[in-house]
Amino acid sequence: MSLAFLDSPILAIETSCDETSAALIHGRQVLSNIISSQVKLHEKWGGIVPEAAARAHVEAILPVIEEALESAGADLKEIEGIAVSNRPGLVGALSVGVSAAKALSFCQRIPLVGVHHLEGHLFSVFGSEGEVPFPHVALIVSGGHTELVLVSFEDGGLHYELVGQTRDDAAGEAFDKAARLLGLGYPGGYAVQEAARRGDSKRYALPRGLQGPTTDFSFSGLKTAILRLVQAEGESINVADACASLQEAIVSVLVERAMFAVEKTGCQALSLVGGVAANEALRLRFGKECEKGGIQFMSPPLLLCTDNAAMIGLAGSHRLAAGERADWSLDCYANAALPS
Ligand code: KG4
Ligand code: ZN
Repeated sequence: MSLAFLDSPILAIETSCDETSAALIHGRQVLSNIISSQVKLHEKWGGIVPEAAARAHVEAILPVIEEALESAGADLKEIEGIAVSNRPGLVGALSVGVSAAKALSFCQRIPLVGVHHLEGHLFSVFGSEGEVPFPHVALIVSGGHTELVLVSFEDGGLHYELVGQTRDDAAGEAFDKAARLLGLGYPGGYAVQEAARRGDSKRYALPRGLQGPTTDFSFSGLKTAILRLVQAEGESINVADACASLQEAIVSVLVERAMFAVEKTGCQALSLVGGVAANEALRLRFGKECEKGGIQFMSPPLLLCTDNAAMIGLAGSHRLAAGERADWSLDCYANAALPS
């Protein structure tokens, strides 16, 4: 038995943070995936302002949905399901997507389903062709989360078991906070990656957090170390070397812990998902380590790593195929554990 997806077009909506996104999915196929980023808006504050994010979602949501339909050449009347991320995230931001999804579902009588944002990230690997084997270990690395999850397939459904997580900051948060201290703006992950290309990763010694063997992470020491470095070096700091050293500290810990989780669970496959999975050095290192260990490595295309509605649609398509339906009481939650 393989994992089932709905064999009809569905509309997906994602507004949990600072991207307004809508997508059309048919089975495992991504027909369109429109993302309107609020980066320019939040840049001036150096981080996300929840109230501003919600207002920007209100402005963008209908044009983004229209564009997703248009670019897939589809009409709302053909849509047989709506999937919307409703947890976890900024409640004001999530409620914009959920309200739009409910309104469309009500007017057009289309079945509705709520999707856990991290389950969306886990499903992003289905957006590329190829078999996704079970069980596998998934490393979710985003701005708000760093989790190692054992993903298994039993009785037609997926089951998630948390095997490790960060005890403080998420990996993306470590990139973003350090980037801000280094004067690289917001969000910092991509900026650090680009600056690191010209840098020497051995130049500055940075902490690795917890001592192994463990499947947990601790990244909060990195921002303190970067702050001290900035204070100590002043004008003479080499930003490219600091970025390369920072990236190496994060990449080496993520790879070491994830490979330990693979060993501990006896899995033969590993997936790398979430915004930080877009990091080139991280993808390369995982590719090499997995090859060495005979482990199948999966990571979605870059557009499916950072927040997007296509991944919500893939998870939603599976849930709709399994007969799940939300009613009008569908609510938004700031925190929520992965569904079991
Ligand atoms: O999954 P995502 O889009 O949003 C959340 O659910 O949090 O992840 C955003 C995070 C940010 O911290 C951003 O700096 C990081 O992903 N990120 C990267 C890269 N692109 C995005 N981190 C490192 N290297 C990148 N190329
Ligand atoms: Zn995310």
